[in-house]
Amino acid sequence: MTKPDVLSIGRLAADLTATLESRYTVHHLWQAADRQALLAGVGPRIRVAATTGHVPCPPDLLDALPNLRLVSSFGVGYDAIDVPALTARGVTLTNTPDVLNDAVAEITIGMMIALAREILPADRHVRDGHWPSGNYPLTAQLTGARVGILGLGRIGKRIADLCAAFRMDIAYHGRREQAGQPYHYYADLVDMAAAVDWLVVIAPSTPESVGMVSRRVLEALGPKGRLVNVARGNLVDEAALVDLLVSGGLGGAALDVFVDEPRVPDALFGLKHVVLQPHQGSATHVTRGAMGDLVAGNIEAFFAGRPLLTPVNA
Ligand code: 8YV
Repeated sequence: MTKPDVLSIGRLAADLTATLESRYTVHHLWQAADRQALLAGVGPRIRVAATTGHVPCPPDLLDALPNLRLVSSFGVGYDAIDVPALTARGVTLTNTPDVLNDAVAEITIGMMIALAREILPADRHVRDGHWPSGNYPLTAQLTGARVGILGLGRIGKRIADLCAAFRMDIAYHGRREQAGQPYHYYADLVDMAAAVDWLVVIAPSTPESVGMVSRRVLEALGPKGRLVNVARGNLVDEAALVDLLVSGGLGGAALDVFVDEPRVPDALFGLKHVVLQPHQGSATHVTRGAMGDLVAGNIEAFFAGRPLLTPVNA
């Protein structure tokens, strides 16, 4: 029996690619020397595409895929994908929510502890042989500090659970107050930033949220405040962030995401009060495996005529 065709738009994890290749004829657009030729050949046969949420599906690509019905995307965020354009063409988008909540929450707390307790510079203190000539200076701590979460969604709630385990004083900001939450709601982000020691950014990147962590918000967080970003780089005014970290106008930052990944502003590299990660939130074997299973599961459901597992725009 001929295997159905699947187009791989962006590069996928190796084990997911292997799973898809065992079930379907996979055409790798990201690898094609001549994309037009590949699309001219298989485009009309493609009903399903797999991708990641940071690779766009531009109109000329969609034009070349007139029978496309499903885009199965790896990742919870899909900010690079124009969802209304897919909907207008009768294409459903699926993503991989929930299965990454724990891993992202875990790295958030990990970076916060690393920043508060200065784990990386203290490690260097030991390795560089400075300990015999003096103890490392005292540090801050998480326990008892105030944290404001920007975006109390699925991941934000998990981060709040972990912050609660550290007996932190938890507040949140979002478009609206959520019923039944034990945490203090701030309708205004500047007000929240002024009231907390830590601002954790975990809201989706949308036209409304881009740049919302502005210079004003960062200044309100202030010289003793610390910013944590595990969402998307473009929610934060990165130039202002760098300025304030260099000048001491902001106390510190733990950053997993950046505006122009994998490029990171050089000015951050020499700063001791900054923790940097290469967009690692969901990057564990277990979590990436579960995300891959959802990508494959949605495709399987589509070809079997069953309801999709995690549709975004159904
Ligand atoms: C992944 C993410 O890094 O899910 C998201 O939105 O940002 C991360 O889990 C990304 O999807 C992998 O390409």
